[in-house]
Amino acid sequence: MITGAGSGIGRASAELFAREGAAVAVLDVNADAAAEVAAAIAGSGGRALSSVTDVTDDAQVRTAMATVVAELGPIGVLYNNAGIGSKGAVDVAEEDDWDRCFDINVKGTFLCSRAVIPSMLEAGRGSIINQASVAALVGVPNFAAYCAAKGAVASLTRSMSVDLAPRGIRVNAIAPGTVYTPLMEPMLTARGGGDLQKGLEMTIVKYPIGRLGDVSDIAAAALFLASDESAFATGSVFAIDGGMTSI
Ligand SMILES: NC(=O)c1ccc[n+]([C@@H]2O[C@H](COP(=O)([O-])OP(=O)(O)OC[C@H]3O[C@@H](n4cnc5c(N)ncnc54)[C@H](O)[C@@H]3O)[C@@H](O)[C@H]2O)c1
Repeated sequence: MITGAGSGIGRASAELFAREGAAVAVLDVNADAAAEVAAAIAGSGGRALSSVTDVTDDAQVRTAMATVVAELGPIGVLYNNAGIGSKGAVDVAEEDDWDRCFDINVKGTFLCSRAVIPSMLEAGRGSIINQASVAALVGVPNFAAYCAAKGAVASLTRSMSVDLAPRGIRVNAIAPGTVYTPLMEPMLTARGGGDLQKGLEMTIVKYPIGRLGDVSDIAAAALFLASDESAFATGSVFAIDGGMTSI
């Protein structure tokens, strides 16, 4: 089950997981996007269902979980990927924007995890992957709420891992560096003073590897954490960031 799978990193992960043989539940608040991804997977011979689910709404989350279990079977992997950015430094950040950023990035992770855990406990195993960000590890200018929310996701990951490891569920987080997706476009444009290309150039210089991330880079990390190849990994926050946080 992947939240926010209608676009960007979530979509790439859904498609990769399906190519690896998983039956994928594509959850997104954007109905058309979710349906398109599920159809694309089915069109390539994979197995997927789409569910219009707002991760901040507990009733919708619980309904989605029940539907997925009924149609695809027990949920072995939850990728809490749905997220949004935020606007501004802390002195200009708006309360509504702050609350929305925390609701989707943090509360959504809590609600989806809480809903899926009984199914994983029943199976005696599971892997939960939370989407953090390099913004959980370093300060990113004019992104105050987002940095705080992703920091909370990293902390929640450690807390969940301690509680759930003895019960067979592993919980890890990915902290991606910048990947050019719809989510990042406003931030990159603002960084470039209204010029997206300039914002991209100003960002790439922060990456020792000489490029930004691609959705496939993050999907590959998620696949590793979903699989038994990562059987000894839990409670970790994996920076997949081209060296950005090592400078
Ligand atoms: N792109 C990056 O550079 C980057 C870097 C670090 C972390 N991330 C994180 O990766 C995740 C995916 O980001 P992306 O860049 O692919 O973004 P994206 O905007 O391409 O995709 C996000 C998806 O989440 C969905 N979504 C938004 N609110 C939702 C809600 N309430 N319920 C369900 N779905 C909802 C959107 O409809 C969209 O399809 C986010 O958590 C983001 O914070 C992204």
